[in-house]
Amino acid sequence: METLPSLSQAVNSTRYFQIGSRFKKERSDHSFRYHLNNFTRAYRSWMVPYVKSRVHANEFHPVLCFLYTDLNCNLDCHYCYSKGRKIPGMTLQTAKDAVDWLCCSKGCKVLAYMGGEPLVRKSFILEITRYAVERGMFVYLPTNGTLLDEKFIDAIGEAGVATVNLAVDAMDGYTGIPKNLNRIRGPFEYLVRREKRYGYITFFNINITRNNIDDVRQLTQIAHDYGIATDYHINEQPPIDYAAFDPEKDCGWITGRDIERVDGLIDWLIEKNRSGYTMVNSVEHLAAMKLFIRNRLPAWPCRAGDLSMIMRLDGSFAPCFELYGDSEDWGSIYAGAKFDVEKLAERKQGCSPHCLSTCNFQVTHYTRSLRHTLQWVAKHAYTRFFGVS
Ligand SMILES: C[S@@+](CC[C@H](N)C(=O)[O-])C[C@H]1O[C@@H](n2cnc3c(N)ncnc32)[C@H](O)[C@@H]1O
Ligand code: SF4
Ligand code: SF4
Repeated sequence: METLPSLSQAVNSTRYFQIGSRFKKERSDHSFRYHLNNFTRAYRSWMVPYVKSRVHANEFHPVLCFLYTDLNCNLDCHYCYSKGRKIPGMTLQTAKDAVDWLCCSKGCKVLAYMGGEPLVRKSFILEITRYAVERGMFVYLPTNGTLLDEKFIDAIGEAGVATVNLAVDAMDGYTGIPKNLNRIRGPFEYLVRREKRYGYITFFNINITRNNIDDVRQLTQIAHDYGIATDYHINEQPPIDYAAFDPEKDCGWITGRDIERVDGLIDWLIEKNRSGYTMVNSVEHLAAMKLFIRNRLPAWPCRAGDLSMIMRLDGSFAPCFELYGDSEDWGSIYAGAKFDVEKLAERKQGCSPHCLSTCNFQVTHYTRSLRHTLQWVAKHAYTRFFGVS
């Protein structure tokens, strides 16, 4: 099997571009049916539930739910406060009850796994994916990719996963940044190759820290050459205390002297977004990163606890990833949702200037108008539909 070259070879070597072009050619061969299926699936899972949630605007109808299946992780990204070791994962019954509650009682059709690393329990993920897909859900799998293998890729493709979000921050990895492309190049290439057969979409999910600025450019270019999308986070400090998080380590926070270099990267990403590189992030979100790193982000209308939510390992709820460890009672699968919209709005005045949640910022952006929502749906089929967002 052909593999990606190492970091030093990757950007300049002819061989890399040959491999890239081969994949580009394969991707351009993706049939009209592949794009149409992705459009239809996204339309049914995002657009229809969103319109229904607006029709019943006084009731709680989330469009997207993150399901924490495990907090355990086999890696140690220094910036991450969402990981643990030897913590009992969600039970199969809780996960099935979660799917039933979301899908049957709330009309929510987008199920995104979250952790920790979901693939520390592959058979669990396969079983819940089959269960959710049978109930018409759009299943999104984020993973650090290190536990992926060909057998699992075929099994999850067969199970009907809609998107695989491969988290890579670097080409070769650094201390504190273990997620790197060269470590997983075999499974990555297999994953892209099998897109056509199973119909899922692949993304690179990249966290921008002060230590991986050049890598972000290289990964963006590689994603484009392979015909896959990218999704960026800006490295954020935890808003509340997390026991497993060690602030003494180098977490790559962006501080005063890094701002100029990060600005340069963001300008470059905006230019690439405008030129048609497929990115989950809107141009507005990328631009807001510049304000965020200067601590000058104004409060923004986050929709966590309204259009999006998370479910913890025990089936209890919270509005967002950032507030996983918060002690407020927001309900559970068994007690129902207790998101108080007014209380949350007040709280967001305080937290949103210090948070640039990629997921929730896009939810806000793409639910601004029906045109924006349609643009989001269309991105699942082809990036340049309805122009740059
Ligand atoms: C917590 S991980 C869980 C799923 C999987 N293990 C992974 O790495 O994608 C989900 C995402 O959160 C992002 N993330 C974790 N800590 C972060 C932080 N401090 N700031 C911004 N993004 C962060 C990661 O980069 C990753 O893309
Ligand atoms: S970001 Fe993902 S891979 Fe890295 S430590 Fe956190 S959960 Fe693990
Ligand atoms: S702004 Fe939204 S996503 Fe960020 S911490 Fe507040 S509620 Fe959570």
